[in-house]
Amino acid sequence: MTRLIHQNIVPPKHSEEMPLLGPEELIPFIEQYFSRRKVYLKQVKKHGSFLYVLEPDVLMRRAEQFKKAFRRELHDSGFYFAVKSNNHPEVARTLLKSGFGLDVSSGVELQTAIDVNAKEIIFSGPGKTPEELESAVRNSSCVTVLIDSFGELHRLQKAASMAGTTVRAGVRLTTNPKGLWRKFGIPPETLTEFWRAARSCPHIALKGIQFHTSWNLSAASQTDAIALLGELLSHMPDNLIENLSFIDVGGGYWPRQGEWLHPPAEPQEMRQKTNRHLSDISMIHLRFPAEPIETFARKISQAIKYHIFPVTRCRICFEPGRWICNDSMHLLMTVVDQKAEDLVITDAGTNAVGWERFETDYFPVLNLTRPALIEKPCYILGSLCTPHDVWGFSYFGREIRVGDVLMIPTQGAYTYSLRQHFIKAVPEVVIM
Ligand SMILES: Cc1ncc(COP(=O)(O)O)c(C=O)c1O
Repeated sequence: MTRLIHQNIVPPKHSEEMPLLGPEELIPFIEQYFSRRKVYLKQVKKHGSFLYVLEPDVLMRRAEQFKKAFRRELHDSGFYFAVKSNNHPEVARTLLKSGFGLDVSSGVELQTAIDVNAKEIIFSGPGKTPEELESAVRNSSCVTVLIDSFGELHRLQKAASMAGTTVRAGVRLTTNPKGLWRKFGIPPETLTEFWRAARSCPHIALKGIQFHTSWNLSAASQTDAIALLGELLSHMPDNLIENLSFIDVGGGYWPRQGEWLHPPAEPQEMRQKTNRHLSDISMIHLRFPAEPIETFARKISQAIKYHIFPVTRCRICFEPGRWICNDSMHLLMTVVDQKAEDLVITDAGTNAVGWERFETDYFPVLNLTRPALIEKPCYILGSLCTPHDVWGFSYFGREIRVGDVLMIPTQGAYTYSLRQHFIKAVPEVVIM
C-alpha cells in the first residue's frame, strides 16, 4: 500500500489555531485495521451487512490497562464500568470477568447488570423512579445507591423500610453549580445537612461520596473537583469522616487518540450545514489531544493523596465508560449505490449510532475491499431519508464501488447504546 495521504490539503484560513490530525498519527491507526481486513471481511461474508463487530479481547486489554494504571498509585481502588457507554450484555460480561463492577443509571441497566450476575453494582443518576428504587432495594445485597437529592434520600428510606432492608448508599455532589449540570447531585455546601438527614433514616447506610465530570481530555476537572472535596471534607463532622468507606470520582477519561473533528463550519454555513462543500471538510481533520490514562491516573492519584488522604484513607472508586469500550466495537457496512465518483450510499443508516455524530466528529472510513493509505474526498452517506445521515466526507482506498465493504473503526462508546429504530432496523452484533 502506498503511503500517501492528505496530498490535496489546502489549510483553512484559521488553521494556525487549529490542531491538525497528521498522517503520523492517522496512518498507523488505519494500518492496524487494514492489516486485519480479512478477519472483518469474513464476518460480513458470514453474517451479512450491516454489522457491529465487538472484540472482547480489546475490552479485556483496556480493563487491565485502566486497573493497572490506577492500582499502581492507589492500592485500595474499585472499578465500575459505566453501562450507558455501551449496554451490550457481552460488554458487561467481559468486564465482570476482568474484575470490574457495573455502574448503572436506570432500572433497565440495573436489570442488565442483574441478568449478567454482577455482584457489585452502583446505581447513580438523577430522578430515580419509585420502581427503580424498589428494584435497587430488592437487590440490595449487590447494589449501592448513589443518592442524587434530599427527596431521593427519603424515597429510598421509604422503599427500604417497606422491604425491611438496609441499603448501602453514597451521595452525589454537584460539580458545576451553573446551568444544566445543576441537575446532578446535591450542592456540596449541603453535605453536612445531607449527612444529618441520612442519619435519621435507619434503613440507609450512607458510606460514600461521588462526583462525575465529563468529556475530559485531561485530568484537570477531576483534580479540581478532588481539591474542592478535600477542602469540604476537612470541615465535616468527625463521625461523617469515620463512616466514609468510599469516594467515587466518576468517569470521563478520553481515549488516547484524542477528539477528532471536522473543521468548524463558518457562521454563515452553520444554519445550512447540509450545503457545506466537500472540499471544505473532506481532507482537513482536527485532533484535540488527550492525556494517556497513565497520566490521568498519576494526576488524579496525586490529588487524592494530597487533598483526601490526610482527611480519610477510604477506598477510591472509578466509573470509566468511554475509555474502556470505545475501541472494542466497529461498524461494517456495504456500498449499495453510487451516484457519482464522490457520492456513495451505504446499506447502513446512522440510526445505528443514534445521533448525527459524523457531521462534527471525524473518523476514517476504510474501504476494506480496495484498501490503500490514500484518503479520497467522497460523501459516504447512509440510506435513511434524511440528509443528516452522514458517515464521512472521505474514505481510505484505491477507489470505491457498489459492493465494497467499508469499516468505521472504534465506535464502541455512546453509539451502540444510542441506537434507534428510525426508518431502518438496527444491525446485528457479531462477537469476534
Ligand atoms: C455518573 C456517570 N459515571 C460515569 C460515566 C461515564 O463517563 P465516561 O464514559 O465519559 O467515562 C457517566 C457518563 O455520562 C456518568 O454520568
